[in-house]
Amino acid sequence: MLTNSPTDTMYFAGRQIHIKRDDLLHADFSGNKARKFYHFLVNDFPDVSHVVGSGSAQANSLYSLSVLAKIKGWKLDYYVSHIADYLKQQQRLPSEIRSNYSEAIKNGANVIEIDWSSNLFNACQHLDDAIKVLKQDYLEKNNALETLFIPEGGRCEYAKTGIYELGKEIINWAVIQNINKLSIFLPSGTGTTALYLQEYFVKQAQKNTLDIEVLTCSTVGGDAYLISQFDELSLNTLHHPQILNDGKKYHFGKLYLSLFHLWQQVLDSSGIEFDLLYDPIGLNVLKHTIESGELKDREILYIHQGGLLGNATMLPRYQRKQALTIK
Ligand SMILES: Cc1ncc(COP(=O)(O)O)c(C=O)c1O
Repeated sequence: MLTNSPTDTMYFAGRQIHIKRDDLLHADFSGNKARKFYHFLVNDFPDVSHVVGSGSAQANSLYSLSVLAKIKGWKLDYYVSHIADYLKQQQRLPSEIRSNYSEAIKNGANVIEIDWSSNLFNACQHLDDAIKVLKQDYLEKNNALETLFIPEGGRCEYAKTGIYELGKEIINWAVIQNINKLSIFLPSGTGTTALYLQEYFVKQAQKNTLDIEVLTCSTVGGDAYLISQFDELSLNTLHHPQILNDGKKYHFGKLYLSLFHLWQQVLDSSGIEFDLLYDPIGLNVLKHTIESGELKDREILYIHQGGLLGNATMLPRYQRKQALTIK
């Protein structure tokens, strides 16, 4: 099932909110990636034999890309800046722990650590710079049509196809529910999902009378960085979702015990497991916004964007930190 995820409700921050369960879309393309890679799943690419991706070795886009490559019969080269020791160790142990990294390797992904000492990358500071160099190199050696380059986190025009589909589902649902004023909230990494969703609603605005807004928060690099990410996808500020914050700047992948406690509370009270990288920040920002009295007269739809396989590595990290704090 790649479309039409169900919608649940849960009690949160003193009120009822709706949850779009994109985490239930597909076992292998959890949530966000089912939307972002929808275009590749439903279209044929007869010339492509090779896909090149990049990002973090813990990312669910690595795992989802590995499944996509396996289904399509493509070879996957996935470049990372660095593979954390605990991930490498997990690979060596006969471990029960499934992580995005371990499952991607099982699917045949070729996960390559950039060799920063190589002359090729002399002028590069970030993974993105190294990928530009590598792209040039691939294109010189291979037929351009054979290789598909997918930017970090699926941040590309192709993502629109599936995210517009998500937008369509939300409008259909809101009409059935008789909801006129809807605030949609989802935490952003690259901002791709939130931006294309907002763009879709702006484009649909003439066709219906619904008042729909997309709200988001930054989980990487702060609000200014997120705005710069939006600008790269669209300079039309009408297509930019509104960025909310709780007054704090978070560092991606860092452990925040207070956020973990909120995540745990939500799990206990609703039975819904959210991801541990993006959602604790998203839920806290939404809680802060609700408690400040905003959104009083609007229905709220939080999008659960999946990512649960990553919890296999995040949960033990949080549990260790919690145990150390209690001692
Ligand atoms: C679970 C989850 N939530 C949120 C996001 C952020 O999405 P985006 O990069 O489109 O902002 C991602 C990243 O792909 C994700 O995997």
